[in-house]
Amino acid sequence: MAGVCRTFLSATIASLRDSLPAFHTVSSQQIMKTSLFLSPAAQLETECLVAVVLDRGDKDKMEAFVSAGDKAVQQAAADVISSGDVSAKTFETTWLHKPSGLKAKRLLLIGGGNSEKFTLSDLRKLGGAAIRALKPRKLRSLAFVLPEPLAAEDALRAVVEGAIVGNFDPDTYKSDRKDQRVEALRVVASGDQATLEGALEQARVVGESQNFTRELVNEPSNRMTPTILADRAKQMCKENGLKCEVYGAEKIQELKMGAFWGVAQGSDEPPALIVMRYEPADAPENPVLGLVGKGITFDTGGISIKPADGMEKMKYDMAGGATMIGVMRAIALLKPKVKVIGIVCATENMPSGKAQKPGDIQTAMSGKTIEIINTDAEGRLVLADGLCYARRLGCTHLIDAATLTGAVVVALGYANVGVFANDDSFYQSFATTLAKSGESMWRLPVNDEYLDMTRSNIADLMNTGGRWGGASTAAAFLREFAETTPWIHLDIAGTAWMEENKPWIAKGPSGVAVRSLIEFARELGKG
Ligand code: BES
Ligand code: MN
Ligand code: ZN
Repeated sequence: MAGVCRTFLSATIASLRDSLPAFHTVSSQQIMKTSLFLSPAAQLETECLVAVVLDRGDKDKMEAFVSAGDKAVQQAAADVISSGDVSAKTFETTWLHKPSGLKAKRLLLIGGGNSEKFTLSDLRKLGGAAIRALKPRKLRSLAFVLPEPLAAEDALRAVVEGAIVGNFDPDTYKSDRKDQRVEALRVVASGDQATLEGALEQARVVGESQNFTRELVNEPSNRMTPTILADRAKQMCKENGLKCEVYGAEKIQELKMGAFWGVAQGSDEPPALIVMRYEPADAPENPVLGLVGKGITFDTGGISIKPADGMEKMKYDMAGGATMIGVMRAIALLKPKVKVIGIVCATENMPSGKAQKPGDIQTAMSGKTIEIINTDAEGRLVLADGLCYARRLGCTHLIDAATLTGAVVVALGYANVGVFANDDSFYQSFATTLAKSGESMWRLPVNDEYLDMTRSNIADLMNTGGRWGGASTAAAFLREFAETTPWIHLDIAGTAWMEENKPWIAKGPSGVAVRSLIEFARELGKG
């Protein structure tokens, strides 16, 4: 009888498992074919040719023009441009059907603003906006004509990255989702084919890795437990030739990660300490970049429980961890000459009979003691041990990413990632790469005064620092665990989730910081 029962149960579990979507590091529906077209645009047969309209006028008089090396494209749009019906207003779209002199079925003109201010970052958004203009029209393919003044290789990267990001929608569990993807992107460019092909491939890796992160973040907590997150990381590592170790509750306790365990002890879901290693033979011994991500797969607040309103969003509290998994994927494929170790501290933060309570004292892996004032300040606890462990593994430079504080949202809104650093020159080198990635981040202070706000009467530290300056007191707490190692902390609480649809990106998980961290690792690899 018991045997029959067990057979029945395992059959049920198997069929349940089969009914869940297959786990790929980038789900097949997300993948868009990308290719180059190096001949004149007029010859290209496509559902839709896209060209950028810029404005070279002064502030009183707009003077729109099609920014393309290709004369045929400019001519096809000449009438509508001279009519004055088209402005170069950013993201404004104009559709022309059967454009004269072109083989394309449609010409989509998309505004990019003033030509003198036009940057790669704007172009990246136009790549996304073009895709998102096509989607509701059920068009499946497009060809994007690179605008003129920017270097072709950089422009190509921007368009491809932007387009792949624009093609993502968070509608995983909608029955009709399959119908909504753009399947193929061609980029009309001129230049050295091998160089451009290389850039195209790299941009694909970057865009798809960002989407991979978004896919992980988008999953609800019942489908993205610490164990599932670890499985996805393991699978990604296996597919891309990275070493991956996943440790459970026993090892976390054995390592004396008392801060991490203090959070994990309250949940029935087992925690996971995920360690992904990229250690190429051609990389120097130094530096070793450590990427540490907050992986709270659901943050109820624990005993100091959060209000119900909006609590469902706390499924994205593992965005920092997902960021690092996406970045490691890209690094594995782009192969910079630098050692990188990715660490994700994954657990739920739950109230229960086993949960830690306000007033409890935890001893972190570093030996520092922490008085728990609010169990909802759990991110800094798991990261404290994550940072310490990264140093233990030999990381010489640390970057963490975390949806850490509501206070950073108060300070910077949804517009900027909060950046904190304990080392000015390390910060400077990171800031230089930000310009390339086009991600907006803003440095905030983390001086000793904030640390003073976290001193405890009974222990070394408290896990909160009072009402004011919450993003900085949280950073000051973390800084204690980075110790003397150059360290950057990215508070992505306000930016990891888009609160509304934008022309270039869907509402939902943003994948913020993925591109900057990839870019930074590549810069480090150049020595
Ligand atoms: N995960 C939250 C921070 C958060 C808030 C992320 C809003 C995304 C959007 C974090 O664990 C938290 O609860 N922080 C507390 C800390 C406080 C108790 C000191 C906060 O910011 O309110
Ligand atoms: Mn919390
Ligand atoms: Zn949290």
